[in-house]
Amino acid sequence: MFRTQTCGALRIANVGEKPTLAGWVQRTRKMGGMTFVDVRDRYGMTQLVFNQDVNPELCEVANKLGREFVIQVTGEVAERSNKNANMETGDIEILVTELIILNESKTPPFTIEDNTDGGDDIRMKYRYLDLRRNSVRYNMELRHRIAFETRRYLDQMSFMEVETPVLIGSTPEGARDFVVPSRMNPGQFYALPQSPQLFKQLLMVSGFDRYFQIVKCFRDEDLRADRQPEFTQIDCEMSFVNQEDVLQIFEGMMKHLFKFVKDIDFAESFPRMTWADAMKYYGSDKPDIRFDMKFVELKEEVSGRNFVVFDSAPYVAGICAKGCAVYTRKQLDELTDFIKRPQIGGKGLIYIRCEAEGQYKSSVDKFYSNEDLKVIATKFNAEPGDLILIMSGETRQTQKALCELRLEVGARLGLRDKNVFAPLWVIDFPLFEYDAETDRYYAMHHPFTSPMPEDIHLLATDKGAVRSNAYDMVVNGVELGGGSIRIHDSALQNEMFKHLGFTPEKAEAQFGFLMSAFQYGAPPHGGLAFGLDRLVSLFAGLDSIRDCIAFPKNNSGRDVMMDAPSVLDNEQLVELNIKLDLQKQVTKVDL
Ligand code: AMO
Repeated sequence: MFRTQTCGALRIANVGEKPTLAGWVQRTRKMGGMTFVDVRDRYGMTQLVFNQDVNPELCEVANKLGREFVIQVTGEVAERSNKNANMETGDIEILVTELIILNESKTPPFTIEDNTDGGDDIRMKYRYLDLRRNSVRYNMELRHRIAFETRRYLDQMSFMEVETPVLIGSTPEGARDFVVPSRMNPGQFYALPQSPQLFKQLLMVSGFDRYFQIVKCFRDEDLRADRQPEFTQIDCEMSFVNQEDVLQIFEGMMKHLFKFVKDIDFAESFPRMTWADAMKYYGSDKPDIRFDMKFVELKEEVSGRNFVVFDSAPYVAGICAKGCAVYTRKQLDELTDFIKRPQIGGKGLIYIRCEAEGQYKSSVDKFYSNEDLKVIATKFNAEPGDLILIMSGETRQTQKALCELRLEVGARLGLRDKNVFAPLWVIDFPLFEYDAETDRYYAMHHPFTSPMPEDIHLLATDKGAVRSNAYDMVVNGVELGGGSIRIHDSALQNEMFKHLGFTPEKAEAQFGFLMSAFQYGAPPHGGLAFGLDRLVSLFAGLDSIRDCIAFPKNNSGRDVMMDAPSVLDNEQLVELNIKLDLQKQVTKVDL
């Protein structure tokens, strides 16, 4: 046997045993005639001892061990005189009698320690070394546990995992496709799936009434901390269900994961909030409800006092930051600078300090009397010591900026504890989203999402008011998953295509096979998909989903380890019938 135990297994009860371990050298220390070596594997670390007086040859070999050498050792487990309470194996050490160097290692480009000296780029280039670090490995172990518990729960619920193809035609999730040229079909391209949406609906037509798949999806979109060009979904679909059935099953899945992965019990049902309320009170379709600080609209209260900023704005609203009246001028300026960042787009910030009972101080004292300010403060239930922050402007844009301000103030007040989880269903989304630039309506979710039956009559007259039978699962302000009850009726689906501006020919070309399938007995169905990467990073308290992906892409979508994407050789291009016409000819040397 190569090893009798792992490097994390031995305890005081093993004293006197003669195990064989194998692993990587974490560090060596020479103290007088003794050499101490920590040997590490996935499971932990054990201290090895070499004694110059007992075995000088062996000690000499030990003294030459470098960081990350791979070794095999045999020896006797002994109780340590100097115990290390920070190590699980800290009560024992191994008095080594045999040492074999299985492989040497170059000095790693950064230290394989919890607090590494390696920057992001170098760690990504040598990701296989980065993965040896405890924190990164922990994220991968957590990912495995979540995927495993997901499969266990869904299997118990009679879901069946079915693989769907990766080389397909375009799918309708609204991002750009990654495309793959076909050698056998010159001039033609596959698209990589943005999700298995169409296939899972077809599987419902096939009678696989409870489907799931833990599956890679590909979207060519601008990257952010919670977006990768390839990411993993827990993709699910069910037949003969209504919205309530889907929410019950997947609330159950989330509770199962919280219980078996994080040991957190959620006795109560998850709250539900309509999209309209989410926007009104939090300015976001993914509100972080770990803390309250709801928006209060003030248009009526602030109008008509000659303050042109408020008078001319269609929307005025604010938040109340508990205990923040003590904020200094500098802190208020910081918040103003924060909301004026280009990505947030706020114009300005008005404050009201609630001082002693009934006494207010504001940046617009010129326009508002103490009595006016009292009326406003009462709307917030503000108490002495609170700070009211108000923004105004075009409705959606101001809501978005006020949402960012709320999150920032919440973070400053320590209200966004990563160990607290506040799940929520957002429901009743609008079916369509209007885009002023193209003067067109787009599906907010995707074109197969069913309208609320009671809103179908509005399709022709008031598209913006039609609600969809769609839902999102949001935890701590992160959209973890989303889905909908689908249209299973060809006539309604054709009507939807029409409203979305598809000509019958275009709809036929892109989704004809689905429409054809729907003519052979499509059951009522619906489902949703969770982002596995987001789920893991939420459970691990990470700031970026990159940290829970074994081999992630960087912010420019590059795999810096493999150096991909890369240019093709000319022969490959010829074989694929592709002629490049780049403004700048890129060569391998440029990359
Ligand atoms: P949607 O597009 O909302 O729905 O995606 C579902 C979930 O996938 C995750 N996600 C991502 N994670 C990381 N990087 C990305 N680029 C990325 N894009 C999405 C999110 C999101 O909530 N077919 C539908 C689902 C359905 O209707 O059943 C779909 O894909 O966590």
